[in-house]
Amino acid sequence: MADIESLLKESRTFKPESDFTRQANWNKKKTNEYRKLGETNPTKFWAQMAKQNVSWFTPWKKVLDWKPPFAKWFVGGKTNVSYNCLDRHLEGENSWRKNKAAIIWEGEPGDTRILTYSELHREVCKFANVLKSQGVKKGDRVCLYMPMVPELAIAMLACTRIGAPHSIVFGGFSADALRDRINDAEAKLVVTADGGYRKGAPFALKATVDKAVENTPSIESVVVVERTKQPIEFRTGRDIWWHEAMAEASTKCAPAKLDAEHPLFILYTSGTTGNPKGILHTTGGYLTHVTTTFKAIFDIKDDDVYWCTADIGWITGHSYVVYGPLAAGATTVMYEGTPTHPGPDRWWDLIEKWGVSIFYTAPTAIRTFIRLGDEHPKSHDLSSLRLLGSVGEPINPEAWMWYHRVIGGKRCPIVDTWWQTETGGIMISSIPGAVDTKPGSATKPFPGIEADIFDEEGNTVKGDAGGFLVLKHPWPGMLRGIWRDPKRFKETYWGTYDKTYFAGDGAHRDKNGYFWIMGRIDDVMNVSGHRIGTMEVESALVSSPDVAEAAVVGRPDEITGTAIVAFVSPKGTTTPDDALVGRLKQHVTKEIGAIARPTEIRFTNALPKTRSGKIMRRLLRDIASGKEVAGDTSTLEDFSVLAKLRESDED
Ligand code: PRX
Repeated sequence: MADIESLLKESRTFKPESDFTRQANWNKKKTNEYRKLGETNPTKFWAQMAKQNVSWFTPWKKVLDWKPPFAKWFVGGKTNVSYNCLDRHLEGENSWRKNKAAIIWEGEPGDTRILTYSELHREVCKFANVLKSQGVKKGDRVCLYMPMVPELAIAMLACTRIGAPHSIVFGGFSADALRDRINDAEAKLVVTADGGYRKGAPFALKATVDKAVENTPSIESVVVVERTKQPIEFRTGRDIWWHEAMAEASTKCAPAKLDAEHPLFILYTSGTTGNPKGILHTTGGYLTHVTTTFKAIFDIKDDDVYWCTADIGWITGHSYVVYGPLAAGATTVMYEGTPTHPGPDRWWDLIEKWGVSIFYTAPTAIRTFIRLGDEHPKSHDLSSLRLLGSVGEPINPEAWMWYHRVIGGKRCPIVDTWWQTETGGIMISSIPGAVDTKPGSATKPFPGIEADIFDEEGNTVKGDAGGFLVLKHPWPGMLRGIWRDPKRFKETYWGTYDKTYFAGDGAHRDKNGYFWIMGRIDDVMNVSGHRIGTMEVESALVSSPDVAEAAVVGRPDEITGTAIVAFVSPKGTTTPDDALVGRLKQHVTKEIGAIARPTEIRFTNALPKTRSGKIMRRLLRDIASGKEVAGDTSTLEDFSVLAKLRESDED
C-alpha cells in the first residue's frame, strides 16, 4: 500500500506541447473519436485499423469469433507478416521506401550495417529459401538463439514469409533452458551464431547450442552466423554456415498467403510454476495490433529514426524493434551490446550519431543512468529526440522526471506503455499528442481496449481505488493460447473471473481515470523489466545436490526494481558457507541463465510454513527487505524458524 500511496501523491501533470500536437498522427480529436468508437464497438474500431494499417491478400469474413477464452480475429482473411514489413514498401505509391534504411545496426565493437528495405527484402527471401532447402515447411517451428545482429531480424521475417512459427530464446539463457524450450516447441531447426559481443568481449552461443541439442530429438539442422570468428565445433551433416547457404540461395521467394490465425510465433515467459509458458501469437490480429499502436503511440513519421533498446529475445523486441516498426515502414535502430561499453555514454553517443528521434527503453536502464551521472548524457547533443517511451515495469516519478528533464530536454512527451508478452502489443499508454501525462502513470487504455480494475469478487472498483488489472474484451494481439497446454491457459488467465482476462498486475485508477500500475501480485518477480518466476529459481536451486529446500522472493531494488533473494536449507551434510553461496549462484546461472542469478542467498534450517505446509512468502519478503515482520503469524508451523531467520538477519 505504501507504494500506491506514494505514487498517488504525484500531482504533476504535463500537457503535450502545441508544436507536437499540431503534427501528431493522432491528435485529441482523432483520439477521442477512436476512444468513443472503441468503447461502443471495439470490433468495428479494430476492423477499421486492420483495413488502414495491414495489407490483406483476401479480406476477412468475420472480424471476431469469440468463444471464451478462445478468440479468432479477422476470420477467413489472408495476409503475410513479411509481405507487410517488406514487399509493400517496395511497390506502388510507397516504392520510394525501397532505398530507405529499414535497419540501422551497430555492433558493440563499433562496426555498423545499414539495410535498406530493398536489401532486407532480398536477404529475407534468400533465408526463406535456405529454410525451405533444409526441409522447413509451413507450420514447422524454428528456434532462434542469436545475438542482436541483423540476421536475427532476417531470420524472423524469413520464418513469417513461409509460415514457419519462430521461437526466439534470449541469448542469455543457459543450455538447459534452451533445450527445454526447443523440446516444448519441437523445433526442427535452430539458427544461432558463433557468438556475440557484450561488455567488450565475445561470448559464445554455438557451444551452448551444441550442448542443448544433445537432447533435442526434433532438431535436424543448426544454421550458424559468423559474428565473432571465435573457434567453434562444427558438426558436418547437421551444422550449416549462414553465409555459405545464403551465397547459393535465390533472392526470389513469394510470401505464403496465410490465414489470419496462422501461428506467427511462440515466446516463452515465466509464470507462477517452474515451467515457462509458450505464449502463442498469430498473424493478422497481432500485426494489426502492433502496427496500429506503433503508429499512434510512437507518432512515427517517415523521416524518424526510431530506437527501442530491448533485446529481440523479449516481446518488446518482437513487437517494437521488428514487426511494428517495419510494418509501418520506419527506420529501426538495433544495437548489439551493453549500454555502458566502452563508456557510460554509449547510448547517448548512439542517439547523437544516428540522429535518433524516438527512443523507447526501460525504467531499470533509466535508473542506472541516473546513478552514473548527468554529465554523460549532457556531453552529447540529444536535440534530435522528440519522443520518449518507457516499458517493462512501473516507472517511479523521479526517474520519469529525470528522463523528461535530462534526456528529453523538457520538450519530449513521454509514453509510459503497459503491456505483456501475452497481450502482444501495448494496452495502456498515453497518446503523445492527445493525452496529458502524469509521472508514473501509464494514463489510459488504448482505444478498443477494455481495461478495468476489479476487486476480489470481480466487481469494478469505484472511484479513486486499487485492485486487480483485467481486460474485459478480447483484443487482436492477444495470446491465442499456451503452446500445447490449453488447461494452463484457461486457469492462468481466465480462471479468476468469468470471460475476463486476469493480467496478474495490481493497479490503481485515480479520479481522472488514469491507471497506475503497481506491479505483479503473483509469484512472478520483475527483475530489470524481465519476468522471472520464483518457482523457476526454486526448482533450479533444489536441483542442486546441496539443497534440501528453497524459497525465493523479490526484494525492492533501486536499480533493477526487484532483486532475487533465496532462502535455502542445505542438506544435512553440506556446510552453509560462502563457497556454497558461490556454487548455488553458479548453479542457477547454469540451469536458467545469468538473469535469474540470486543477488543474495541466505541459509536457514527450515522455512517458515503454514500448518498446511505452504511457505509463508510474505514473511520472507519482509525479512528479505529488512522490514519488521508485520501481520498475523499465528498460522506459522514453527515459530522458532522465524526467530532464527531474524537472528541471521541481524548478523
Ligand atoms: O508487471 C507488468 C510489467 O511487466 C509485466 C509484463 O512483463 P513481460 O511479459 O516480460 O513484458 C514486458 C514488456 C511488455 C506486466 O505484467 N510492466 C510492463 N510494462 C509496464 C509494467 N509495469 C508498469 N508499467 C509499465 N509500463
